[in-house]
Amino acid sequence: MKVVADHKVVNIQYFSEENYVIQMESPVDIPKIKPGNFAEIKVDNTPGVFLRRPFSILDVDYENKLISFYVKVIGKGTRYIGLYEIGDQINLIYPLGNSFTVSDKDRKVLIVGGGSGIAPFILLGKEMVKNGIEATFLIGGRSQRDIILTKEFAKYGDVLVTTEDGSLGEKGLVTQHSVFISPQFKYDRIYACGPDPMMKAVAIIAQQKEITCEVSLENTMACGFGICLCCVTATQEGNKRVCLEGPVFNSRYLKWQI
Ligand SMILES: Cc1cc2nc3c(=O)[nH]c(=O)nc-3n(C[C@H](O)[C@H](O)[C@H](O)COP(=O)(O)OP(=O)(O)OC[C@H]3O[C@@H](n4cnc5c(N)ncnc54)[C@H](O)[C@@H]3O)c2cc1C
Ligand code: FES
Repeated sequence: MKVVADHKVVNIQYFSEENYVIQMESPVDIPKIKPGNFAEIKVDNTPGVFLRRPFSILDVDYENKLISFYVKVIGKGTRYIGLYEIGDQINLIYPLGNSFTVSDKDRKVLIVGGGSGIAPFILLGKEMVKNGIEATFLIGGRSQRDIILTKEFAKYGDVLVTTEDGSLGEKGLVTQHSVFISPQFKYDRIYACGPDPMMKAVAIIAQQKEITCEVSLENTMACGFGICLCCVTATQEGNKRVCLEGPVFNSRYLKWQI
């Protein structure tokens, strides 16, 4: 079942000028959301922003009908969503897209998030705990200001951090973290979401170590449900729509220019 409805803004928490979490109340019961599902958010009364914008669903409180999103400001849409006030209505369509695989055969997984790519991983962390799978979160950002929600992630597994300027955690890119060269590096699956170069680098490491890797693509979207074809990505079986057949893909299935 898809929800297409106005939702009331109930909270906006800014972590910096560029990062915030917005929470909304649904007028209807929220259907089961799987980790990786996303929503299309309509940005009303905003000149120059005609199309809905896609955002991973960060978290859900089914009992209180609350849904939240982590937004990193990169343009008009992401800036305007953060300017809504408590009580304002925002139209959402969800749940859209597929989801990450959660396999009871896995015992230990590595979850790699860069920038706004951390967003689908709270729900994934909850699934890991439910299924008794040990998760390690590796979170990367440009600086300390970009590293948020670490306390929340720590509820579901170990948390490792990298920043490019070294202001928090290990200095460097997320793929340069010492976890990748540790003799104890042994995971059944790797999940990644973030900028394309980061996901490609994680996919190469996974391939070298013969570990299954799932990535969640953030291609630019228009319709969000398979009609306009503006989000396609090349795969081993031809072009696929990231909004419908994705956003989550096995990295080996993608025909990436690495
Ligand atoms: C499935 C999916 C889930 C996403 N989840 C999140 C999330 O949880 N949190 C979050 O902050 N963002 C997420 N994004 C990215 C988010 O949708 C874009 O940042 C947003 O649409 C940009 O809108 P804007 O109006 O602010 O920027 P625009 O004014 O549309 O664009 C500003 C600049 O950013 C570029 N740009 C726009 N969209 C993207 C993109 N997807 N990737 C790279 N460059 C882009 C444009 O080409 C332009 O140069 C997700 C995207 C997808 C496809
Ligand atoms: S966004 Fe229209 S087909 Fe994917």
